Amino acid sequence: MLVVIPDVLTPDEIKKINAALRPEHFLDGRLTAGGRAASVKANLQTDVKGDATKELQQMIHAALMRNSTFVTVAAPKRILPVRFNLYKQGMYYGDHVDNALMGGAPGEPDMVRVDMSFTLFISPPDSYNGGDLVIKTGYGRHTFKLPAGHLVVYPTYFFHEVTPVTRGERLACVSWLQSMVRDATKREVLLDLAIASQMLASNAPNARAGAADLLDKVRKNLLRLWVEN
Ligand code: NI
Repeated sequence: MLVVIPDVLTPDEIKKINAALRPEHFLDGRLTAGGRAASVKANLQTDVKGDATKELQQMIHAALMRNSTFVTVAAPKRILPVRFNLYKQGMYYGDHVDNALMGGAPGEPDMVRVDMSFTLFISPPDSYNGGDLVIKTGYGRHTFKLPAGHLVVYPTYFFHEVTPVTRGERLACVSWLQSMVRDATKREVLLDLAIASQMLASNAPNARAGAADLLDKVRKNLLRLWVEN
């Protein structure tokens, strides 16, 4: 499931990020791309271990953990420190799949199994052209260019790319997490149940019908998970 979560950061937090990041904080993105990814990557990124962005990393971690939607969708066990990515005109990151295991180097958190990836958009979408995040699932291509402070989180097993920036600059931050619920199908069941329960607690029109539909979906998906024949 690809889930968009609005307003993960406040306007003040976005201002703080823009004010704190300096050109000298950014390194060649190819330094951290392994194998095939290095040949398709042309961007700039901050050093996750560097002191320059430590405070911003902690601020974003706190913003993620106070966001009940993010916590429900991802059930995060460990979130790796975020990295800021900058794409200037002509920069891009071609099709790739993120690593399955990350971290564990000296000065980094223990190695985590990467279950989900996320991108948190910092630049306003009208400040650059191109720079779309395109995620390729079995159900087609999904394109994201979200307002500043919005986030998209998705299972890490998908191919994805950032298309070339043709005007302006695109600043975003990315990271990866290990979920307490390893299996994406099971995470989806839990999320459906959370949404159905919220719908039942609300007085919104059609909420009961929507919840009934979701509970029907949950029952069928649990049957597929549990029934042997
Ligand atoms: Ni990636």
